[in-house]
Amino acid sequence: AQTIFSGIQPTGVPHLGNYLGALANWVALQKNADPQDRLIYSIVGYHAITLPQDPRRLERERMDIMASLLAIGINPERSILFHQDQVLEHVELAWILNCMTSMGKLKRVTTWKSKLAVARNDGTDKNQDDGHLSLGLFAYPVLQAADILLYKATRVPVGEDQRQHLELCRDLADVFNRTVKSPIFPVPRHIITPAKRVLSLRDPMQKMSKSAPAANSRILITDSFDEIAAKVRSAVTDSTRGITYDPISRPGVSNLVTIISGCTDESIESVVERLADKGHGELKGEVVDAVESKLGPVRREYERIKQDEGWIREVGRRGAEKARALAVETMVDVKTRLGLGAL
Ligand code: TYM
Repeated sequence: AQTIFSGIQPTGVPHLGNYLGALANWVALQKNADPQDRLIYSIVGYHAITLPQDPRRLERERMDIMASLLAIGINPERSILFHQDQVLEHVELAWILNCMTSMGKLKRVTTWKSKLAVARNDGTDKNQDDGHLSLGLFAYPVLQAADILLYKATRVPVGEDQRQHLELCRDLADVFNRTVKSPIFPVPRHIITPAKRVLSLRDPMQKMSKSAPAANSRILITDSFDEIAAKVRSAVTDSTRGITYDPISRPGVSNLVTIISGCTDESIESVVERLADKGHGELKGEVVDAVESKLGPVRREYERIKQDEGWIREVGRRGAEKARALAVETMVDVKTRLGLGAL
């Protein structure tokens, strides 16, 4: 049987990139995975605090993201759904893995390198380079590896941008196994959706992201029909006639085709064939319809679920209990092999 694990940061309601790149797959796996397979989905608060967070806002966003995951159809009876920051073993395993990770390896991770590049370019800290970036941000991928290995996960459904983090996790599983001489961690593999990289509507050279300053660069899964329509209408395309799928030279148009395909399960080829002679306006009309058909029910479910915060908390509490039971088991094993813990 497989153990499927994935996580999302509680930094705002998920956007369409999160949804099509990963979350839709989390839901699909509930149906498609073998009933024996274990599904574990986590809201990763300890990752969120690698960048400064306002506590009141973080608390609200942790609640909102739990409501979002329930609204898209994560079923807490089938899947273990929990807050990472309620299961302290994540941090414990992360520390152990920190001690087995070379700084050199972490320095090569692109997410760190891009944060570093921003720090250098904004001129705040020219001489110190990484001086004001936190140790936690540097070690971020190690905590992610701990999340996955703590449950001995074998499959990780994520978007394209997490590929390198998963490589590091695979590497760490291997390092740990060799250190203790008898392998205890399976080496996990990723599961990637066709819509593995949804791009910003404003700047189709960038991925759609929660942190981009322009709010109309992303569609949130709770956006109203009017918000969806306005954002899609203002999406950057190009001046070439007709509709083709060519992510390199027509990133904006191709991204809209990806979004239609991701929302309707119609293949990219079929979308392009159907819309080949259409104008960009018509393409955008199709995008609005496709997104609304997917997100309309999610938005209504979200509003309903948000009425009952007591229940949302209760789901989290029960999820954390189930996760903790598994995590404790792994940690006893891990620590014993390292000569730690029980005496
Ligand atoms: P996060 O919170 O940034 O994103 C959650 C999921 O959404 C995917 N994603 C996208 N997919 C396609 N196009 C996009 N524009 C796009 N933006 C985001 C991400 O690939 C991800 O699958 N480090 C992780 C959270 C994490 C995790 C883990 C994931 C922590 N521990 C263990 C898997 C396993 C992150 O920041 O995801």
